[in-house]
Amino acid sequence: MLILGAETSCDETAVSLVESKGNNLSVLSNIVSSQTKIHSKWGGVVPNLAAREHLKNIVPVLGTAFRKAKKSPKDIDFIAVTQGPGLIPALLIGTNAAKALSYIWQKPLLGIHHIEGHIYANFIRESLKPKVQSSKFPILCLVVSGGHTQLVLMKKHLDYEIVGQTLDDATGEAFDKVARILDLGFPGGPNVAEAATKIKNQKSKIKIDLPRPMINSSNLNFSFSGLKTAVLYKTREFKKLPVAALANDFQQAVVDVLVSKTIKAAKKYNPKTIMLAGGVSANKELREQMKKAVKNNFPDSLFIIPGSKYCIDNATMIATAGYYRWKSMTATQKKKALNNWKTIQADANLKLK
Ligand code: KG4
Ligand code: ZN
Repeated sequence: MLILGAETSCDETAVSLVESKGNNLSVLSNIVSSQTKIHSKWGGVVPNLAAREHLKNIVPVLGTAFRKAKKSPKDIDFIAVTQGPGLIPALLIGTNAAKALSYIWQKPLLGIHHIEGHIYANFIRESLKPKVQSSKFPILCLVVSGGHTQLVLMKKHLDYEIVGQTLDDATGEAFDKVARILDLGFPGGPNVAEAATKIKNQKSKIKIDLPRPMINSSNLNFSFSGLKTAVLYKTREFKKLPVAALANDFQQAVVDVLVSKTIKAAKKYNPKTIMLAGGVSANKELREQMKKAVKNNFPDSLFIIPGSKYCIDNATMIATAGYYRWKSMTATQKKKALNNWKTIQADANLKLK
């Protein structure tokens, strides 16, 4: 089976072709056209600019994805597109392109939740380390992206219970805002992480001591907006900004809270598999420290993280989630999906269900 995935929820125009053979998925092409340079001037993603770039890029990216995979439209079995959540002008380009192609090519169309896609990045075969064919349920997944911070419990495929979430800023949003405070540019996450590595070369260690918000609260929720403000107040204490020390302590505060809450959730729900998902899961410190904490606390649980290129927005994760959705559908539902181009609507606030 051949799946065409498309994703345009934010500032990446992405198209992938994913082939399934039995339960094995192979990525034939994973094309991502990033708009980072265009938005960096403004310090964040400008929705209408993003839409204009998606419109310019979607056809060339589609062409590259087919050429790289050495496939043609007649080979695909269905199309999976990000329906939401995200920026509505951006989402509209991907969903309308997918709807037009579904109609013209007479291929079924599935609308996928962006976060479902991030979670299913863990099921892309290349992501599975060690080489396990399937993860065991229940699964606990920490989703950390630019728009979301959630602890999601899955008792089976496509079944989600949000057991904890941020009360204010998402983790990626906090990274991006702190990057702005420290004048590190956009996108913030990778730049803060890079700045933090410089702390290792500094002889005199400056103590920063940022708070670890909600680390001791009895629930599984998060809060990052106060931490961002704490960084801002700290900057006022110095004449010459200790950027590396601030970036390092901010990153460590975030990692401490994320690890602590994930372990707390795991103690409560006893998952057989613990996963990370979303752009911030590309963060090296988070990956390493979470891995260590899972190994120490739950040596019998499996710990899975997507390959770094599948943590940030891409269409392979959308095609993969589409594959699991397709597998769960009846023959009648699959037939009906041929007409989904008439009904699927981009939804900026789509709920995970
Ligand atoms: O999942 P994603 O690509 O898009 C959304 O769905 O939001 O996540 C983007 C977020 C941005 O806030 C970006 O700064 C953050 O992920 N990010 C990182 C890293 N790479 C991307 N944050 C921390 N460390 C990283 N290495
Ligand atoms: Zn995302």
